[in-house]
Amino acid sequence: MEEYIKMNILDTEFMQGFIRMANDGWEQGWHERNGGNLSYRMKPEEVVQGKESFKEGQWQPIGAKVPGLAGEFFLVTGSGKYFRNVILSPEDSLCIIEVDKQGENYRRVWGLVNGGKPTSELPSHLMNHEVKKKATDGKYRVIYHAHTTNVIALTFVLPLKDEVFTRELWEMATECPVVFPSGVGVVPWMVPGGREIAAATSELMKEYDVAIWAHHGMFASGEDFDLTFGLMHTVEKAAEILVKTLSMRPDKLQTIQPEEFRHLAEDFHVSLPEKFLFEKQGTQSTAPVEKQGI
Ligand code: 13P
Ligand code: ZN
Repeated sequence: MEEYIKMNILDTEFMQGFIRMANDGWEQGWHERNGGNLSYRMKPEEVVQGKESFKEGQWQPIGAKVPGLAGEFFLVTGSGKYFRNVILSPEDSLCIIEVDKQGENYRRVWGLVNGGKPTSELPSHLMNHEVKKKATDGKYRVIYHAHTTNVIALTFVLPLKDEVFTRELWEMATECPVVFPSGVGVVPWMVPGGREIAAATSELMKEYDVAIWAHHGMFASGEDFDLTFGLMHTVEKAAEILVKTLSMRPDKLQTIQPEEFRHLAEDFHVSLPEKFLFEKQGTQSTAPVEKQGI
């Protein structure tokens, strides 16, 4: 007979990975107060691992329809909870939720031991998960929202266009087009926490792994915790270099050229959409879109 070892859910690999990622984000300075949120679509075997500690709560409306996620379980940060506290008190800061058969309601099955609800950005998280699950044949499991300082700063000075943000970020570090070859999308300022911003973000997630929320932060998606955190980190680091560059002078003396990106794409076996490789008029990052030939 197979020996059955009862495992504390807090010791499971997915829980430990989630907690470490939340704490890494805190240490980067991306999670002031309750800023940001994180969600993970659990694997069937992880649901089995956790079942012993589940206690089903009441069904609640998600605020969005996600039939593609019917019956799925998610580990999610709680609304108003601080990333700082995730590592100190995960069962107070996090919860596991189950989505119903229609994809319209959820119920808490674990966590938030002192009360509370999943993140107010649950519609965005779940709509993004639905898009990514379909687009990647179930491979993508993580959606991460962070208040990344430098990306937010850039949304005040760059035109809010996918083409401009992608191209400027790609130019800031040679690894960027390799790490996010499909580019980044930009959502104009919208009221957070609702269905409308969730719909706009998930539309962009059909094309990109990253969506920037103007004057607010960023959403990143990926297969696992490392890849998703690494993606957020790479984009934010590129933004930091651009902020530093723009702080020295408004133009660049030299940068990576469209033809050089095409060579890079060949050698690194990535495909870079031509819409980001436009010829620029002048060298100012902040030049209006019309003047950048797009
Ligand atoms: P929550 O505390 O509800 O997750 O909200 C934080 C946030 O960043 C909203 O965009
Ligand atoms: Zn936010």
